[in-house]
Amino acid sequence: MNEPNFHPPVTVALTGASGAQYGLRLVEALVAAGHEVWVMVSKAAHLVIETETDASLPARPERLAQALSERSGAAAGQIRCFGREDWMAPVASGSGAPSAMVICPCSTGTLSAVATGASNNLIERAADVALKERRQLILVPRETPLSAIHLEHMLNLARLGAVILPAAPGFYHRPATVDDLVDFIVARILNQLGIEHRLMPRWGE
Ligand SMILES: Cc1cc2nc3c(=O)[nH]c(=O)nc-3n(C[C@H](O)[C@H](O)[C@H](O)COP(=O)(O)O)c2cc1C
Repeated sequence: MNEPNFHPPVTVALTGASGAQYGLRLVEALVAAGHEVWVMVSKAAHLVIETETDASLPARPERLAQALSERSGAAAGQIRCFGREDWMAPVASGSGAPSAMVICPCSTGTLSAVATGASNNLIERAADVALKERRQLILVPRETPLSAIHLEHMLNLARLGAVILPAAPGFYHRPATVDDLVDFIVARILNQLGIEHRLMPRWGE
């Protein structure tokens, strides 16, 4: 049987900032748009997911891929997951990494590691690869208030070409539910990626 043809992979990393729903919804939206999605979930993100949502996702990459596929209605093979120190994963090298990576939500810890090139785990390494290869890197930080350290890291990353897309939804679309607020941010991410969606109308529509 032929493998289904997906659109090119997008790397999505969920880290331990509040706002796990943004990352989970982003995975769903990318799946719905027909993209292959390569997912990494940090240890802290697992705790945040359990705290903030009804989901409790397994840690092992194969089982995580299965659970995320069930949640998002992905076809077999559409979601792949990689472990914290899976240095042989394609995202760990410029020759294998997709053209776009989103860290959503992005903790200030991961923000700092990416800004300084720490590469201590696969999420940090994949972001480092995206920067060195000048691929698209979108970070969705959530913290308040922001310290000078956070702001300096964001400025440095923006100057390196990364997109800083704070998890700060607008209210002019009159959100009625939490899902509306989540979709506001996910729509902005998809706009950056150039992926068509119907999550909310564009300005002026
Ligand atoms: C429920 C919960 C909420 C958190 N919210 C935030 C947050 O909004 N922003 C942030 O930067 N860190 C937040 N943290 C702390 C991070 O999870 C922690 O700094 C962790 O080391 C980040 O690791 P990671 O970047 O590898 O995921 C939160 C932790 C928990 C358990």
